[in-house]
Amino acid sequence: VSITHDNTRVVATLPRGDRVEILLFGANALSWKTGNGKEQLFLSDKAILDGSKPVRGGIPLVFPLFGPAQESHPATAKLPQHGFARNVRWEYLGKTSSESFAIGKEASDASVKIDFGLSPTEIDDKFKSAWPYSFGLTYSITLSPDELSTSLQVANTGTEAFEFQTLFHTYFATSDIASTHVTGLESNGFINKVPSPKQTAAANEPIKFSGELDRVYTGAEKDIIINDNGKPSITIKRNELPDVVVWNPWADKSKGMSDFGPEDGWKKMVCVEAGSVEKFSRLEGGETWEGQQIIKAHL
Ligand code: BG6
Repeated sequence: VSITHDNTRVVATLPRGDRVEILLFGANALSWKTGNGKEQLFLSDKAILDGSKPVRGGIPLVFPLFGPAQESHPATAKLPQHGFARNVRWEYLGKTSSESFAIGKEASDASVKIDFGLSPTEIDDKFKSAWPYSFGLTYSITLSPDELSTSLQVANTGTEAFEFQTLFHTYFATSDIASTHVTGLESNGFINKVPSPKQTAAANEPIKFSGELDRVYTGAEKDIIINDNGKPSITIKRNELPDVVVWNPWADKSKGMSDFGPEDGWKKMVCVEAGSVEKFSRLEGGETWEGQQIIKAHL
């Protein structure tokens, strides 16, 4: 297993070629390639990577607020859309790799876990005053053959309880959105955010795309499968992440985003975002919470 890191990024590569690249700003995964060299994430070619705004693509981290601030939740009402975790530089904490040399096993079984941390000392004063709690976040990315796991541990290191929402805002690459469909959410109700948020009953059919789609599925228990051209391309398993946001901005909305490219890039992506966002989770002083997604690529 090889790890390289500099001031801005960490790159991990497995012996068989699987590779993940993470920007310290936002601890945003920018690229995940499976052993066959195929890129599994979508990154806008106009994404801004210098830390002046969140990254458009890869896996932005949403914490402690999902969506725009709401007056109805005063504790997060001063935060930017999707919170601050994607707007700050995280600390690289190191790696743990496992390489198996047992008889009959190849080094190709190797996997690596890389950890990133965030605490109030790393965040700007404006975020600290908007969200004045004592917290410690540990974000672990584990790269295994054809599999990527992302796990976020939230610790309340103070005495005062806080409430949070969180989500892995994963932009998956797909070959053509018109022949992409998502299964596993058929029996779940959802909040349809377009044109304005509306509670909607389960559709009892796979999700297909023919225009802007922005939905928050709640209480989802099954594994989610992204199908590309009639074949499963990605399976997402989740722990402690009951909600799934499915989003594609389509032509007009993506044209309005200055950091979105190429112009028809919306045809090549689908966001399937595992999270805990319908409600706020409450964490008492001294408690920790952990949520995880495991993404398997089908080749
Ligand atoms: C999705 C939301 O999770 O993120 C959408 O459901 C939103 O409503 C999208 O447009 C992108 O958000 P942002 O802040 O990265 O442009």
